Amino acid sequence: MSLDIVILAAGQGTRMRSALPKVLHPIAGQSMLGHVIDRARQLSPAGIHVVIGHGADLVRERLAADDLNFVLQSEQLGTGHAVAQALPALTAERVLILYGDVPLIEAATLERLLEQVADEQLGLLTVDLIDPTGYGRIVRDANGVVKAIVEHKDATPEQRQICEGNTGILAVPGKRLGDWLGRLSNSNAQGEYYLTDVIAMAVADGLVVATEQPLDAMEVQGANDRMQLAELERHYQQRAARSLMVQGVTLRDPARFDLRGEVTVGRDVLIDINVILEGRVVIEDGVQIGPNCVIKDSTLRQGAVVKANSHLDGAELGAGSDCGPFARLRPGSVLGAKAHVGNFVELKNAVLGEGAKAGHLSYLGDAEIGARTNIGAGSITCNYDGANKFKTVLGEDVFIGSNSALVAPVTLGDGATTGAGSVVTSDVPANTLAVGRAKQRNVDGWKRPTKIKK
Ligand code: UD1
Ligand code: CA
Repeated sequence: MSLDIVILAAGQGTRMRSALPKVLHPIAGQSMLGHVIDRARQLSPAGIHVVIGHGADLVRERLAADDLNFVLQSEQLGTGHAVAQALPALTAERVLILYGDVPLIEAATLERLLEQVADEQLGLLTVDLIDPTGYGRIVRDANGVVKAIVEHKDATPEQRQICEGNTGILAVPGKRLGDWLGRLSNSNAQGEYYLTDVIAMAVADGLVVATEQPLDAMEVQGANDRMQLAELERHYQQRAARSLMVQGVTLRDPARFDLRGEVTVGRDVLIDINVILEGRVVIEDGVQIGPNCVIKDSTLRQGAVVKANSHLDGAELGAGSDCGPFARLRPGSVLGAKAHVGNFVELKNAVLGEGAKAGHLSYLGDAEIGARTNIGAGSITCNYDGANKFKTVLGEDVFIGSNSALVAPVTLGDGATTGAGSVVTSDVPANTLAVGRAKQRNVDGWKRPTKIKK
């Protein structure tokens, strides 16, 4: 059966007290609405329709994609009114309603709900709550058959005793929806067109309402304020941490680990505390990541070691290579197998060959560095003249003396050496020593200045 998904995301979210539209607030580095859209995509629907209102331009701009149909609801007159805005674009046999501020919903739960919606049936996702205040209540008859949803503000004292709440997530037969939405009225406590009134209409039309519940109540928890946002974030992170441990990763403390993107992991990976993984990260077998590291869009090959407080962005660490503590690898940093980058070394667009080393205090930008080459402490590439960037090429087994400045463009052949403190402005042939510094001069009997008396 074909499926249309409508995501409601027009509300203001006043309680966030934010200039940012509520649905753009992030969970795990991605907007809440982005998470919901991802879940929707997992169901391979014919269409995904996002109803936007508050901050519509920004929401559209941030999330624009070919498979999304944005529908403007210029006035927020209720959830029923919101769905009605998408109606002209709906063509499928089933319509599923989701919410841009309910980000942790699982595709598996939605699949179970959709299974309930055979021909002429309604599927409703409900949740048993200890405190159902504010929720629409599921009204059932003596036989447990669903009759209606009554909003909290419209409920009688008896109805308020009902603990089964409406999550808002609903699957309905597409061809009936237009008729029901057309008959909604706003004569209720909030003066809104309630989507929930569709339930009683469906029952009156002889449809059966089937209910499903999520496995985990946090799946249907919305974020109305920053406290709830933080709870959802923690829940997401606990779920991510558990999934990694199941895959064979040791997390020194699962409560101090954050995933803001996607990671694939091998076995026997060790991740110490306060590590943040962002974007797409690939971690192969036996990798060790020390405490307080931020690793974004990077690949760590088998047995690589990232020591404490290192920051990687767009980097690739070869098998058995290591970096840090306090290494900064910027986009285009590639360490060959067994290469080593030590403390306070910054790399950008720099490729280190197998076994190459930069142990201390270096900046290597736009550089190609051959196998086994050693970069002495304090040495840098001068890759930028204020207008253009140039490349430094070092052959294999080169030895760069401490505090050398390699002024690009410059090439050093295999086995070349630079004397400490050299400013290297021209190419150095293979197996040659370049000394580019003033010759030392000793002054006999030199007297240090003394303080002038005033
Ligand atoms: C709604 C349900 C209630 C359910 C609760 C679960 C209705 C009438 N009530 O109540 O039964 O228990 O959710 O959280 O549906 N929205 C729009 N346009 C509008 C109005 C709302 O896009 O005109 C969006 C909001 O941005 C929000 C969602 O729909 O994401 C729910 O709206 P809200 O007003 O928060 O509904 P509740 O009163 O919480
Ligand atoms: Ca709400």
